[in-house]
Amino acid sequence: MRAHEIIDRCRALAELSESPTGLLRTFLSPPMQEVHRLLGQWMEAAGMRAHIDAAGNLRGVYPGGPRRLLLGSHVDTVPNAGAFDGVLGVVLAIALVGALGGRSLPFSIEVVAFSEEEGVRFGVPFIGSRALAGTLDAELLSRRDAAGISVSEAIRQLGLHAAQVPEARVDEGVFAYIEFHIEQGPVLDSLGLPLGVVTSIAGQSRFTIHFHGQANHAGTTPMHLRRDALAAAARWISVVERHARATPGLVTTVGSVEIQPGASNIVPGAVRASLDVRHSEDAVRRQSAVALVDAAGRIGTRRGIAVDWQQTLDQRATACDPRLVEALARAVAAAGFPVHKICSDAGHDAMILAACVPVAMLFLRSPGGLSHHPDESVNANDTEAALAAGAALLTDLERKYA
Ligand code: GLV
Ligand code: MN
Ligand code: MN
Repeated sequence: MRAHEIIDRCRALAELSESPTGLLRTFLSPPMQEVHRLLGQWMEAAGMRAHIDAAGNLRGVYPGGPRRLLLGSHVDTVPNAGAFDGVLGVVLAIALVGALGGRSLPFSIEVVAFSEEEGVRFGVPFIGSRALAGTLDAELLSRRDAAGISVSEAIRQLGLHAAQVPEARVDEGVFAYIEFHIEQGPVLDSLGLPLGVVTSIAGQSRFTIHFHGQANHAGTTPMHLRRDALAAAARWISVVERHARATPGLVTTVGSVEIQPGASNIVPGAVRASLDVRHSEDAVRRQSAVALVDAAGRIGTRRGIAVDWQQTLDQRATACDPRLVEALARAVAAAGFPVHKICSDAGHDAMILAACVPVAMLFLRSPGGLSHHPDESVNANDTEAALAAGAALLTDLERKYA
């Protein structure tokens, strides 16, 4: 399969959305089931046997020798998403397997379409890859979405059984996990390079912060007698931005703010805000996260606003496996492309898998550096380059395990 067919497949999957106004596909939603159906067909056509595990991951196995190589990425999306974040890695992996034409390798290949990586439906990311790593625990399974449905119930609604989640775990035969993914940033584009070999992935902290003020009449409540939850949150958001601008390498985002009751003639009574903090050094990230949560409390105290918070993620930075990084670098060079090593500031399923198996990633240039946006794209030539590097990697591994 050539690059343009891979891109067409990604664009076809991007039509499968639960939102009428843009691409949104969350954990086990009806359009996700349609994605499973199509990807399952493509897996079978490429010589794989496909099944869905108890965490809703679609898994296709191409038989071969006793050890196993995992390839994959996620098929859920952010709201108003582009067509390539996650999905490209799955479609490209299926194409790599299809290109083997049924030839048996000294290892089997399993392509995994992870069910959840973005954290949109339950506020916690990596549900799919945690099942493979054996860290999808009871607390996470009991998390509820905005409609009050828990992760376990969502699994049951699909006819699956949460009690079988432990069976999704990878076994000792798995020797590597390789993820192909768009860069989602401007570095490769600015350097004019098609591919990047990922050496590490930055850690992430995520929080939900609640500001509890007092809703009241917008006309009759004098300014000095208000307890405006949104004014406090706004003050805090400016502190969050200033802190990151003053801390090299730190990125902080308040990406979601919900206001209650949310009317132009009511003083905001309550605000729920998200906080996302990332840095390649865990100590810097954790110290900043503590400082920013404390700042919310201090601002609240000054304004008579109670503040509480929950941490929803503390994911440490991840180093890719040095031997796999070198194997990928050799593969990129063998395919005739310049080798450029790069750190990832986006989170990936590879971070979770790294707890139980050596991981590495190959980035494809993101034109314009655009991602988590409907105009996100990938070049056909870069996709061709990734296919060539992937094929060279399989040849390298074939020699190693022959
Ligand atoms: C995943 O896309 C992330 O938020 O890094
Ligand atoms: Mn994403
Ligand atoms: Mn992604």
